Amino acid sequence: MDELLQQIENYKQEVTAYNASTQDELETYRIKFLGTKGIVKTVLGEMKNVPNESKKEFGLILNAFKVFTEEKFEQLKESISANGQQVSSKIDWSLPGDPVPAGTRHPLSIVRNQMVSIFKRLGFAVAEGPEIEDDWHNFTALNLPENHPARDMQDTFYLHQNPDYLLRTHTSSVQARIMEKQKPPIRIVCPGRVYRNETISARAHCFFHQVEGLYVDENVSFADLKQTLYFFVKEMFGDAKVRFRPSYFPFTEPSAEMDISCTVCGGKGCSLCKHTGWVEILGCGMVHPKMLDNFGIDSENYTGFAFGMGVERICQLKFRVNDLRLYSQNDIRFLRQFTGAV
Ligand code: DAH
Repeated sequence: MDELLQQIENYKQEVTAYNASTQDELETYRIKFLGTKGIVKTVLGEMKNVPNESKKEFGLILNAFKVFTEEKFEQLKESISANGQQVSSKIDWSLPGDPVPAGTRHPLSIVRNQMVSIFKRLGFAVAEGPEIEDDWHNFTALNLPENHPARDMQDTFYLHQNPDYLLRTHTSSVQARIMEKQKPPIRIVCPGRVYRNETISARAHCFFHQVEGLYVDENVSFADLKQTLYFFVKEMFGDAKVRFRPSYFPFTEPSAEMDISCTVCGGKGCSLCKHTGWVEILGCGMVHPKMLDNFGIDSENYTGFAFGMGVERICQLKFRVNDLRLYSQNDIRFLRQFTGAV
């Protein structure tokens, strides 16, 4: 029995000296002393060899040893969790999370959405068409037959493989596509990207964006056109002044261009308005009767108005962006300035 007592004494020393600074070391201690095949179980198993008269005395000693090892386990556990970082050597739960930056909408998307939503409130629906277009929808159907001089105004990209196809030069092509398959009343706006073979500079680009509008019904007049555009300017720019100038487009008769008073200098004159106080924002007019006839819409009964404007120009007036190239350079310093806008 002395041998057993000596052994317990040795184990006690071992327990006292045991140090655990990680969860793994704590677990090693638990398995060694308190596990199902651990030292405490083995020592308690020795009871069956103890003579009856000594059983009570040994029982107390063995039980005290059990309590001693258990208390040590609790102490080790506490000291590890107090020393937080060592609970797990792999993950530090107290570190702040990685920031997830919220994206921002592109300024052209912001302005296009605003433009579309203004016209939606007047009952216009959104229509879209393909960017790769055929000659008919981009030119001929719009009263621009082959060899028409106005074709030269829009330097066109033709598809190398098949020159019958081109990159649309304006969203007016969507007008043609809608009139082809829809009967009046038609009331649509067509936002989209267009392409022209221009040298890229601060003031010109080979692709840009337009919003086209078309309204065809009985008794649509030039007064309706003006009122619609007045409403648009009021919603978009507040109290900017508006003026119409006679112009020419093959698909409208009469045609006009609309200017607003410069939002940058308030009409006093600056580089944006070339010191005139006015900035042109769109072309418009009454849909040419020939165009209606092209699509089997009776021009005796129906009239319509149309307009087309550049999104970049509106964006320039709203956000003072003075270089068209900024829109497509993906410079994060430029794009970040529109955080929070919708
Ligand atoms: N398509 C013309 C352009 O790109 C803009 C335009 C002018 C559209 C008059 C129209 C319109 O619908 O009626 O320059």
